Amino acid sequence: MNPSHRPVRLTRRKVLGSAVAALAAVAETGPSAQAAPPVAAPVNPDDTYGQMTSGVVTGENITEVLPGIWRIHVGGKSEQVTPLSFRSAPTNASALGLLPPVKTMPLEHHAISWTLSARGISVQLPMTHEERIYGLGLDTEIFDMTDRRAICCPSDTPQDKMNYSHAPVSFYVSNRGYGVYVDTARYAWFYTGNVVPKADAGELAGTAQPALSTAGLYEPTPLHHKTMLVDVHPSRGLDIYIFAGPTLRHAVQRYNLFSGGGAMPPLWGLGIHYRGESMMSDQEIVALARRLRAEKMPCDMWGLEPGWQSRVYPSSFEWDRARFPDPDAFIKTIKSMNYHLNAWEHAFTSPISPLFKPLRPWSGNFLVWGGLTPDFATAEARKIWMNHHDKIMFSKGIDGVKLDECDNQPYRAHPWSFPEASVFPSGLDGELMHTLFGELYQQTMLQPLTRRNLRTWSLVRDTFALAAPLPFTVYSDSYDFNCYLRGVCKQAFSGVMWVPEVRNAESVEELYRRVQLVIFAPMALINCWYMKLPPWLQINRDRSNQGQLMPEHQQATKVVRTLFELRMRLIPYLYAAFNEYRLRGMPPIRPLVMDWPDDVATHTIDDQFMFGPAILVAPVQPGRRRRRVYLPAGHWYDFATHQRMDGGRWITVDAPVERIPMFVKSGSIIPLAEPVPFITAETCFELTVYAFGTPRESITLYEDDGTSLDYQKGRQNTLEITWRNGTGSVARGGNYSGPPRYAFKAFHSV
Ligand code: GAL
Repeated sequence: MNPSHRPVRLTRRKVLGSAVAALAAVAETGPSAQAAPPVAAPVNPDDTYGQMTSGVVTGENITEVLPGIWRIHVGGKSEQVTPLSFRSAPTNASALGLLPPVKTMPLEHHAISWTLSARGISVQLPMTHEERIYGLGLDTEIFDMTDRRAICCPSDTPQDKMNYSHAPVSFYVSNRGYGVYVDTARYAWFYTGNVVPKADAGELAGTAQPALSTAGLYEPTPLHHKTMLVDVHPSRGLDIYIFAGPTLRHAVQRYNLFSGGGAMPPLWGLGIHYRGESMMSDQEIVALARRLRAEKMPCDMWGLEPGWQSRVYPSSFEWDRARFPDPDAFIKTIKSMNYHLNAWEHAFTSPISPLFKPLRPWSGNFLVWGGLTPDFATAEARKIWMNHHDKIMFSKGIDGVKLDECDNQPYRAHPWSFPEASVFPSGLDGELMHTLFGELYQQTMLQPLTRRNLRTWSLVRDTFALAAPLPFTVYSDSYDFNCYLRGVCKQAFSGVMWVPEVRNAESVEELYRRVQLVIFAPMALINCWYMKLPPWLQINRDRSNQGQLMPEHQQATKVVRTLFELRMRLIPYLYAAFNEYRLRGMPPIRPLVMDWPDDVATHTIDDQFMFGPAILVAPVQPGRRRRRVYLPAGHWYDFATHQRMDGGRWITVDAPVERIPMFVKSGSIIPLAEPVPFITAETCFELTVYAFGTPRESITLYEDDGTSLDYQKGRQNTLEITWRNGTGSVARGGNYSGPPRYAFKAFHSV
């Protein structure tokens, strides 16, 4: 299951004796401490508990597995189950070959060491003092991951900025232009530069400063170099993958391509997603869906929340016949209005479900909410799941899912999910299963859609490493605006998609600010699962459920419609960015540090991001009317006014409530579409193409059927737009021969 391991040369130091002696030895290990420590006299000669070994990585432990990607094996035998053993897609090796070549591993191997103790294995990797570390998943309370303890443990909510999240990912990147992936499904602990090996005591001598303040007592220890410590227990051996840059962004691209390349949404997936109130009946849904169409609110996907099922918590995976007497007729009606349908579920299977009996032998040994936890690591559970879901959902035309509650509650006194001590028929324990559960669940749900040659753009509440090829976006129950925004900035470091959502709001202004953020997310999501009316008709939850329109509903409808239309105008541009994600691993939405890693000002910016290749977005917090925006070096154009500005500086912009600060990088070509209310097989976007400054590079649009997987077989066209002598020209090529997706209306120079 695992990639093969090369033999390891151990620098063996066996300490037979007390754990105390072992600890003394462990403390002495590290890149600069190769001399064997003294061996303490054993307290109890029979006590072998404290045995430990350690080693320094040698050339023999390293294999360059792909261009610019090295595997290092440390310690003894790796665990049989790791994320790589359940990867979702093969590596895109040919695309890796197109990235800038890097011949030498970016970290010196003799500076990497490991220690094996009764606890498990730990690895020390070198860092420099100025280095910034990013990634490790989606704890939306932290951006810069340097000098922390970060635990890669799935969780339904963040906790104390310790990295618990819906997507803890054991991959980090450095602004020095490399990435590190630790192939483990254990809850790995990363100390990102804030531990000091005893071996560095020499360097410390004479540097200690007297603390002049209480805060000074806790200042980090000044050292010339730093150490990254990765602590994985109870594993005895590990594979670690080092990804070359040369820049941080290239390291992320390599990691995404190693994972299989970025996921490809269907075109409709990039439109607006609306989720209705949980307990709505078929008639209520159809009425509201009609209203959205009548009011010309763009919308491409309707999400069914729990009420479509006859029983939830745990789930029956059967239609509720009181609310949906004729599911087939309901689906037909909704689809005839050009909505795609997405259905909510969680995996815990009720005793009343037809899946209960067949799944019983293929589930974990603990119930969750009284339901079975399917073992998606077994082919049997997958098959049972797939067949049933194909029958009740996909064969009927549902083409999206929302996989809820598949995370964990690691620090709650009353968790509801399965315990870490669980065992599963596949041999996975509860800890491994918690880490992998979201991804295994996504893979299982994807299979029937793939068989039907359909793409999806779905939702999941837990994912992990190597997730880039999975067409699922991660959401959360949290509702903090800044965390939502930070997540949008941060997602790109870890090969995952983060989706903030709009629900209720305290004020109409807050509603606008929230919509202004979600239209720039990988999925533009309005999640009204606890509100009968859309928030542009009523922002207050209780009044929404009483059916009361708010006084400002007409104006709010107009403003929100305009924002949705902005999203629709950007779809061809965004679709192009997603194709770059698929083909080159380039994240479509990125924090500034990813494009300007050498500009120190970008290192901590967690509230502005690049949307596609050229648009910088700086959303405004609810309640604010002005904000500071950093424009990196070069020239920029205000998206709305086309005013040209100098970069390399902070500016303060006025942001009245209907304005989103957006700036276009000089030298860019931006196609903008006439907004459409939804996307069908025939939709042809009418484009006006703008050139900002003097574009030297072209932009490529991608044309295909928008829904099937045929693009993988080459049924896709590229439309390369170049700019010369003040106007654009388009070169079309490729093997797609369906209805054209783009018509060019006009070309403008700005
Ligand atoms: C939550 C989920 C919400 C909504 C709700 C329905 O777990 O995060 O988005 O789906 O369940 O019960």
